[in-house]
Amino acid sequence: MKLTQADFQERRDRLAEQMGPNSIAIIATSPEVMRNRDADYKFRADSSFFYLTGFAEPQAVAVIETDETGEMYVYSLFCRERNREMEIWNGYRAGVDGAIDAYEADEAYAIDLLDEEIISKILNKQKLYYRIGQRAEFDAKISHWIAKAHESSRGFGVPAHIIQLDQILDEMRLHKSAEEIELMQIAANISADAHTRAMQSVRPDMMEYALEAELNYIFGQQGCVPAYNSIVGGGKNGCILHYVENNQPLKDGDLVLIDAACEYECYASDITRTFPVNGKFSPEQKVLYQIILDAQIAAIEAIQIGNSYKEPHTVAVRILVEGLVDLGIMQGDIDQIIESESYRQFYMHGTGHWLGMDVHDVGTYKDDNGQWRTYEHGMVVTVEPGLYIAPDDETVEKKWRGIGIRIEDDVVATEQGPLVLTKNVVKSIEDIEALMASRN
Ligand code: GLY
Ligand code: MN
Ligand code: MN
Repeated sequence: MKLTQADFQERRDRLAEQMGPNSIAIIATSPEVMRNRDADYKFRADSSFFYLTGFAEPQAVAVIETDETGEMYVYSLFCRERNREMEIWNGYRAGVDGAIDAYEADEAYAIDLLDEEIISKILNKQKLYYRIGQRAEFDAKISHWIAKAHESSRGFGVPAHIIQLDQILDEMRLHKSAEEIELMQIAANISADAHTRAMQSVRPDMMEYALEAELNYIFGQQGCVPAYNSIVGGGKNGCILHYVENNQPLKDGDLVLIDAACEYECYASDITRTFPVNGKFSPEQKVLYQIILDAQIAAIEAIQIGNSYKEPHTVAVRILVEGLVDLGIMQGDIDQIIESESYRQFYMHGTGHWLGMDVHDVGTYKDDNGQWRTYEHGMVVTVEPGLYIAPDDETVEKKWRGIGIRIEDDVVATEQGPLVLTKNVVKSIEDIEALMASRN
């Protein structure tokens, strides 16, 4: 499934509507980034640029200009020209004709003409929208264009208002359409298959990177790339929140924490599973795991339309703290531990984040009054409680040390209640052990 030009156009329509009359929006894609001499990182279009255009080539800028009534707008795409020699080396280009025919731009220009053409577009507009602060070079370009427009109009034709475009775009991206949810479901299904394969492939003494390769095999088979750097941490490496070295052997008796997922058509998924390298949880691993699973299931239930964004965290923290006190890992009054946040010794991150085209997706978490926003239909959030007992934490009994567990699913807030996109990969102790026992 792919989005169509009609989908991208509908987004441009909604943006133009919110810009008001006599306005211009300028949106650039990501820069190409070199890895080292003559080798660059694989290009990935800027999410907001792609959201509006569906155009995946580098070196492109979209411009939307509304007319005096605010009813009509012109969509221009600046892109690379066709060039036979460059295309032989680096791949086909849409070119200016393709920008009009295939991407439905009203006007298209060679990207080399941007500095020249943009001045007349800026002139006599009331408001200029762009993604302020996205990149210093682009901020500098905008300032330069405004200065040029000022010069050529003797100061009469420059926009009176410069406005943060992200305010509008981020809010649009935060609310996913049915088609976007469908794409995210595909990404989630592929990632779930990758985690299932990892559970079926892991063996004691395997290297973490070899297990990562099992995930990448599934992503690659489906034409996907990881949505972020995969975390494959055995034993105490599971206590490092952003562990990405993935270069240690997996030990018999340890858990392995995998936080890895792919993106499909520029839509991300984000899954964490933690399971025993040898297929059987030890008693300590089991009891800690069950606390986190209970917290996670309760937190998912808290994703109800109208609930505060923070409700899943509040629910998860209480269950985690009760569990830690029950096990004697923490001592004291539960409310006081929660109030003082001393649980952060073992649970130091939030319970989720917005998910969409970016793994940590755009969208504000608080409203204009500084209050947590509430869940609305089509918002997608991760639910990822965990507990991490540092290997050198002498405040806890030795048997708990070096255990790091996180369980993460992707959830859509809907009128019918929480919709879990990532349920194709098992997470109960029973189901994990059964799946792992069935390995050849
Ligand atoms: N994988 C990044 C995160 O869970 O936030
Ligand atoms: Mn996450
Ligand atoms: Mn994650």
